[in-house]
Amino acid sequence: MKDAIVVVLLVLSLGANGWLWHRQNSAEQPPELALEMSYLQRFVHKLSLAVGARNPDLAGFYLHELEETTEAIQEDIPTYEGHRIAELIGAMFMPQLEAVDAAVKDRDWDRGSELIQSMTAACNSCHQATAHGFIVIAVGTSNPFNQKFRK
Ligand code: HEC
Repeated sequence: MKDAIVVVLLVLSLGANGWLWHRQNSAEQPPELALEMSYLQRFVHKLSLAVGARNPDLAGFYLHELEETTEAIQEDIPTYEGHRIAELIGAMFMPQLEAVDAAVKDRDWDRGSELIQSMTAACNSCHQATAHGFIVIAVGTSNPFNQKFRK
């Protein structure tokens, strides 16, 4: 009888552990804003190199990745430490992205390069607006990637 009770308790406790483990792991965790930002940094850098190399397909690819990443941030992390991230991205960053996109579609590479400068300034303005002004992005002009940007 005693053994049976021990077995029942053991089974119950294993079940409860399993349930808790499952609950903890399936809980929706919002992605880290800093991690998403590191993707933005990487994609803008690669976009800058693709525009510098006058490569419309590659530039178009990174413009699309930037759009997807910023939209995901707006959806998943609409606010952060009291700052309205989704709204700020919509107001400060999206118009810049669209402007670069239009320049690439027009194959106007000089305008594209200039607009990437303003886009980078917009990244930094938003860092200032969200109490992270110490994170200063510079336009990426050298290629640290093991990747070719010229067609
Ligand atoms: C909504 C305003 C906003 C915009 C627009 C924005 N950032 Fe950020 N960024 C932040 C905030 C807030 C943090 C701090 C996140 C944290 O504390 O986890 C951050 C952090 C970062 C970091 C630090 C993470 C790391 O990997 O070192 C980098 C880099 C960065 N941003 C790059 C960019 C780039 C590049 C752009 C433009 C393409 C950009 N950000 C646009 C608000 C913004």
